[in-house]
Amino acid sequence: MNTNLVLSPSSAVETELLAVLAADQSTSKAKDAAPEVRLLSADDSVRSAAQPVLDSGEFRAEAGETLLLHSPFGIKAKRLLIVGLGKAAKLTPTEVRKGAGTAVRFARPRNIRELAIVVPEAAQLEQQLTVRALAEGALLADFDPDTYRSDRKDRSVQALQVVAPAAGDRRAAETGLREGVIVAESQNFARTLVNEPGNRMTPTILGQKAAEMCRAFGLQCEVHGPDKLRDLKMGAFLSVAQGSDEPPALIVMSYEPPNGARGDGPVLALVGKGITFDTGGISIKPSENMEKMKYDMAGGAAMIASMRAIAQLRPQVRVIGIVCAAENMPSGKAQKPGDVQIAMPAGPDRPGKSIEIINTDAEGRLVLADGLTYARQLGATHLIDAATLTGAIGVALGMINAGVFSNDDDTCQHFADALKISGERFWRLPVEDDYRELIKSQIADIKNTGGRYGGAITAAMFLKEFAEDTPWIHLDIAGVAWSDEAKPWIAAGPSGVAVRSIVEWVRSYAR
Ligand code: BES
Ligand code: MN
Ligand code: ZN
Repeated sequence: MNTNLVLSPSSAVETELLAVLAADQSTSKAKDAAPEVRLLSADDSVRSAAQPVLDSGEFRAEAGETLLLHSPFGIKAKRLLIVGLGKAAKLTPTEVRKGAGTAVRFARPRNIRELAIVVPEAAQLEQQLTVRALAEGALLADFDPDTYRSDRKDRSVQALQVVAPAAGDRRAAETGLREGVIVAESQNFARTLVNEPGNRMTPTILGQKAAEMCRAFGLQCEVHGPDKLRDLKMGAFLSVAQGSDEPPALIVMSYEPPNGARGDGPVLALVGKGITFDTGGISIKPSENMEKMKYDMAGGAAMIASMRAIAQLRPQVRVIGIVCAAENMPSGKAQKPGDVQIAMPAGPDRPGKSIEIINTDAEGRLVLADGLTYARQLGATHLIDAATLTGAIGVALGMINAGVFSNDDDTCQHFADALKISGERFWRLPVEDDYRELIKSQIADIKNTGGRYGGAITAAMFLKEFAEDTPWIHLDIAGVAWSDEAKPWIAAGPSGVAVRSIVEWVRSYAR
């Protein structure tokens, strides 16, 4: 999608479809209260073209609601689309993101390949973040996961005009548009990777995709195979891969800031779970819904995609991206419940932690354990991991919020601040030492499951063992990395969650 900023009155924009956002100003709580729809455009001609239909009360400006007018009087656009954002009092860039998405997903099935969206004007909407959210919403909405349908029609929108008020701040709008495009294209890249089925997205292929991306965007990249994992003594990671004929891949990407890195600055490590298919291994999963486990590399994809955005935004901070990719399979070579594995040593004179495998389906924490240790060995001062780690996170938080865990309040505050910009929803859960009891083993240092209760927390406790004293954030995205239902503003399928927040978290450390 080509995007273009135009500073002109909305009524003067020549386009197939002019989308104008609208909100409900009524403050009444009563269910059947009449909405007071306010068009978020200062253009008089647009307002008068829309007035009759708004007066009719047919349009309530609910989120995702649309109303189309052909040949609107007094304006240049061929069609005027009014898009609801919900209550005016609750208006934030998040609603704008959805509104822009709704406009794009209105256009696509109607074969409208070019449209214009008016940047909404409202007191509480700051220009740069509003334009950014608008661009993100439009690009994210243009993604469809129907890749392998032989009758697939390309319905993508070719051109988008972002219409900002002529008197507005051009610089802010340009920056917002540029950042929105970079971040949304990267998030879509993550969704493309996650959408691929297991036979077409093996650890090796994921490594190739990462290397290709790094080449295109000027990042360093190394993809290591099993020999290197053995050299590094990554016993936990290797134990997951050993049941599969597909070799594991350790993907290491690095970004150096433009003016050279100061020796003492932070080094941020992004560590992703890249299980390209999770059968559960010998502790095999039930077959119902097992096909979904192709998205078990969504954390890894989020890290590859975040590195892609970072390479373009060029923040003044060093960043390493690590993805531990493997396939979790049952076979005669697979690891068994009761096996004991030795994780990667945390230093030259420190033995790796011993792990009793209770359930081979708790494999994500095993690959991440070695990924986190390796990140620390590469000099990481701050760690963030993302993983579709537990079904339990969905039980705890539903499909609305993802889980965030951290051993350091300051680092976690950086993430909370990032959420204000990304608009993504994460809820913090505890990793207090009391929970550590639950992963104690009779035979080894720790075991890889913690029993029936607090499953997302005990999984996080396991990872915390390997973060040791390094400030660390863990994102459990299992509940939200895939959505079964489409929304008016976004397709069903891979969500690309966490990319926007991770990128913003990284930028918060830039000097
Ligand atoms: N990949 C799964 C978690 C998952 C579940 C992701 C549902 C997406 C949707 C993970 O490897 C897993 O199997 N976790 C187990 C852990 C258990 C064996 C302690 C789980 O959540 O059941
Ligand atoms: Mn599993
Ligand atoms: Zn898994």
